[in-house]
Amino acid sequence: MSERLELLIKDVVYPGKGLSRGPDGKVVFVDGGIDGERVEAEVVKRYKTYDVARLISVIEPSPYRVAPRCDHYRLCSVYQVMDYHYQVRLKLRQLNAMMKGIYTQKIEFLPADSIFGYRNKVRFRVDWRGRKAGYISSEGEVVDVEECHLALRGINEVWRHIRPILWDRPVEELDSVEIRADRDGRILVNLFVSDDAPALQDLAMRIGGLESVTGVVRIKGLSVKELVGERFLEVEVAGRKFRFYATNFFQVNYEMAEKIVALLRQWILRLESRVILDLFAGVGFLGLSVADAVRWVYAVESDPLAGKALEVNGDYAGFGNLSYKIGNAGKIVWEVFEDPRLKKSVDTVVVDPPRTGLSKSVREFLRKNSKVRSLIYVSCDPMTLRRDLSELKPVYKVERMYIVDMFPNTPHIETVTILTRRKK
Ligand SMILES: C[S@@+](CC[C@H](N)C(=O)[O-])C[C@H]1O[C@@H](n2cnc3c(N)ncnc32)[C@H](O)[C@@H]1O
Repeated sequence: MSERLELLIKDVVYPGKGLSRGPDGKVVFVDGGIDGERVEAEVVKRYKTYDVARLISVIEPSPYRVAPRCDHYRLCSVYQVMDYHYQVRLKLRQLNAMMKGIYTQKIEFLPADSIFGYRNKVRFRVDWRGRKAGYISSEGEVVDVEECHLALRGINEVWRHIRPILWDRPVEELDSVEIRADRDGRILVNLFVSDDAPALQDLAMRIGGLESVTGVVRIKGLSVKELVGERFLEVEVAGRKFRFYATNFFQVNYEMAEKIVALLRQWILRLESRVILDLFAGVGFLGLSVADAVRWVYAVESDPLAGKALEVNGDYAGFGNLSYKIGNAGKIVWEVFEDPRLKKSVDTVVVDPPRTGLSKSVREFLRKNSKVRSLIYVSCDPMTLRRDLSELKPVYKVERMYIVDMFPNTPHIETVTILTRRKK
């Protein structure tokens, strides 16, 4: 039998593990637990320098502990039991610790407007044998989820109607159902399949018949096919209209995405940026949001389907000052300066990379290209941000750092960092 311990949680470290010490002084990470709490936990894995334990019960609760809204909250985040003010302090404390030696000034925190009901995209896995559809547990099992409190209301409403349809006519090739919502409750449903199946069209027709659903799409690997209706949604964010297709990235929290745009605009004006290079541009959300404030926006994105959206969104913005390239940012950055319209003129680079952060090639480009006067780094992973900033530190000074709380009630930390090139 696994060992049970009574532990005192000393801290909560990114990304959300309770840190404590066992009777022998060895570090034990507990999934759940707020600092100051005494808990009972069961050791589930042992490593050389630390153990990992599962929370069994809270013996002495923290005054910051609140009742969770869902039974399954631990599947997606243990932060739901933390009072929001505590979450704010915790994220600041964690980021301050991670930025030691890189940025020692005040980190500003932009709190979330809605701490529940904000996610515009949710993916539910399907387990046909167990007749379950929901989130995956740490043991790799699908746990039934009828409602996700982090999701926009429209997503939960449509999910309630999709669930019975799934069991009516099983399509065993269907691995998961992703639901995306715009700001007016219109829904796009992505059906992720392992293979094509004749019954899929019928399932799509039934889902497509639901009132709010405007499109149902089949996704198999990289192949995207519309089964019913349109394969995109359109949203107005920060006063501008954007289209995104089924598999395109779009910021998952519309309200907080507007706060990122406000910061971006404030700094673009302050830095007197003229030509911006929007790297990892997605459907052009960041660059096009400030297109009216600059002379030219040059976007780089790897997703070919995003090219179509960039085209449409550039027209929606209507300033005629967007050009873009589809491909790997690490390669394209070196080609950008070949473009006669841009030659030697990009002064500000905006980066919003995936969790992996910037590639070596992008970091090298940013260091070497002395025309780049400023860098605005939007990050969803403070660990890779730290790596990138410490490498850029000899060349760039961190002027300001913000947490924009895109993902309340989860451990995720979204940051915006403003950097300027040091004078030689
Ligand atoms: C976090 S999203 C940001 C999107 C956009 N800035 C926005 O605000 O909607 C990261 C984007 O980078 C793209 N991407 C990932 N790896 C890339 C690479 N090596 N080169 C160019 N784009 C990449 C992804 O397809 C995704 O659209």
